[in-house]
Amino acid sequence: MVSTTPTSDPLQLSGGGSLRGTVGVPGDKSVSHRALLFGAIAEGETRIEGLLPAEDPLSTAACLRAMGVSVSPIRAGDTVLVQGVGLDGLQEPADVLDCGNSGTTMRLMLGLLAGRAGRHFVLSGDASLRGRPMRRVGAPLAQMGAVIHGRKDGNFAPLAVLGQPLRGATIRTPVASAQVKSAILLAALTAAGPTTVIEPALSRDHSERMLRAFGADLVVGGPGGTEVTVTPGPDLRGQQVVVPGDISSAAFWLVAGAITPGADLTVENVGLNPSRIGILEVLEQMGARIEVLHQRDVAGEPVGDLRVSHGPLQAFEIAGELIPRLVDEIPVLAVAACCAEGTSHIRDAGELRVKETDRLAVMARQLGAMGARIEEFEDGMTITGGTALHGAAVDSETDHRVAMSLAVAAGIARGVTTLQRHEAAAVSYPGFWDDLQRLRR
Ligand code: S3P
Repeated sequence: MVSTTPTSDPLQLSGGGSLRGTVGVPGDKSVSHRALLFGAIAEGETRIEGLLPAEDPLSTAACLRAMGVSVSPIRAGDTVLVQGVGLDGLQEPADVLDCGNSGTTMRLMLGLLAGRAGRHFVLSGDASLRGRPMRRVGAPLAQMGAVIHGRKDGNFAPLAVLGQPLRGATIRTPVASAQVKSAILLAALTAAGPTTVIEPALSRDHSERMLRAFGADLVVGGPGGTEVTVTPGPDLRGQQVVVPGDISSAAFWLVAGAITPGADLTVENVGLNPSRIGILEVLEQMGARIEVLHQRDVAGEPVGDLRVSHGPLQAFEIAGELIPRLVDEIPVLAVAACCAEGTSHIRDAGELRVKETDRLAVMARQLGAMGARIEEFEDGMTITGGTALHGAAVDSETDHRVAMSLAVAAGIARGVTTLQRHEAAAVSYPGFWDDLQRLRR
């Protein structure tokens, strides 16, 4: 049973029992941010269906409103209307732009604001966000002429952006990061001359798809679509956007269904963009029983329903170009690894150290407290499966994906797990605890 209390008292999660039924996960977080941002700088109205009503997109909407953009209230089930102000129509805000816990908000905002000549912006966020590296965006934008100041040579928020006329550039990014790529693409929309961004491996391509749908002159090329060129000129035009369910939220149910004895779950309306489905490839590699049903295309993104049931699992190995395609799913994959036969290896995943928390350290610490056999390395970990987990006192350490991953682990652990700071889940999946309660048998 799950006992939810309205306060941030620790949540008691008892192990045992099973999971059955159908669940619709909330809208994709990455697509939600982009729909708001691109709608804000388009001409005319953008209508967004299925926008994720969670803390991170609310941060993006609040920043946009502070710069004169009308965004209708964001409530579950409501269509959200954004009245665009055009490519250069954002006003200087009267106060600091609060990006909350959201790295996507802050990084994409830097790209959006760097070229707003003559205007001054200050961006900040919560303690986690103020400790996350921002020079990875500031440095390429500086190649285009951007002026961004902040602590530690512009690496940490609060950040001050002094809007400048920008020039086009060819930029090679050292990490495959959709946030960095998207910030550059946003800045490129109003630069003088074309801009090309070249990634070391393909990161999620929602910006490319959606910017093209909004009318940007954007060409994707290079090996595996890793080179993107924007030629400034056309105005963006307001669109109708349908946001698919977030595969990163579905991941908790996919793993829970695969590892919980007797489980049988169907997750409806999940976005299946090829740059996001690494988790499905790994679960297949593990021998998980997963079926993709009703595959269809919704507003330029592939979507389907996923059915998962419990069965024996093998250890997995993940590294290299697969990592950006499942980067947010690694915490819950670590839980899956605990239930697999053999030792799973995660490598080339140093990026996890600069997420909302250092997810390699936090997962090793928290799952370790439940009896998991994890060895942590600089850029990954090995997890030896086949050891029964036991209930323990654990903590999300403020990280939404850690909170939900630990809940999945608690379901198969012996005894009761006490989870501190479970409310972090609201950053991306506010209804998670209700859905968990409803699916438990
Ligand atoms: C995101 C990109 C990824 C991901 C994050 C959302 C995006 O971050 O981890 O949750 O919407 O562009 P990086 O760009 O840092 O890899």
